[in-house]
Amino acid sequence: MGNLFGKNKVLTAVFISGRGTNLKKLIQFSKTKNSPIKISLIVSNNFKAEGLKYSLKYKIKKYVLAINDTKFEDKVLKNLKINKIKFICLAGFMKILSKKFIKNFNGKIINIHPSLLPKYKGLNTHEKVIKNKEKYTGCTVHYVNYKLDSGKIILQKKIKILKKDTPKSIKKRVLSVEHQTYYKAILKIFSVI
Ligand code: GRF
Repeated sequence: MGNLFGKNKVLTAVFISGRGTNLKKLIQFSKTKNSPIKISLIVSNNFKAEGLKYSLKYKIKKYVLAINDTKFEDKVLKNLKINKIKFICLAGFMKILSKKFIKNFNGKIINIHPSLLPKYKGLNTHEKVIKNKEKYTGCTVHYVNYKLDSGKIILQKKIKILKKDTPKSIKKRVLSVEHQTYYKAILKIFSVI
């Protein structure tokens, strides 16, 4: 498949901090013929991240560092370089990346966020959506820039909020929509050229 980066699948790292359900879906997608990316590294700032099990299951390298490691970014950047990583998907990665880090991967880092950005940046989106009596919510895949949850939007998927919804029920439904949206956003990016 031809894409922005040439003929071969783009070597990609997924950054996680927790459960990793988006990671799992991205791995499954990356194994399909249609996928422009190959996930060859999982990075985490949490040794206990549940999603790290997919490293073993799918035989993908992992690189885990403590969140308070003062050299976190330098070490990760070095590791990404060694592994020839050209594209990064953040999937529940709970650490804000510095300008310097982002500059190193300018336009090559994307994130998934559980709200219809620009609304409800940051944490606890589902609680806020209910509190503000929104009619709709959803998820957004966007480029990562220097401001939190503010980069250019690649793809959004909207769902209707039901009367009986709670933050918990919305979270569940949004998550399942996330799983269908993240890979579509990747297809969208790489079919630009
Ligand atoms: C997702 O809701 C994602 O939008 C947010 O963090 C959550 C990660 O879930 N950034 P999982 O680890 O992929 O299951």
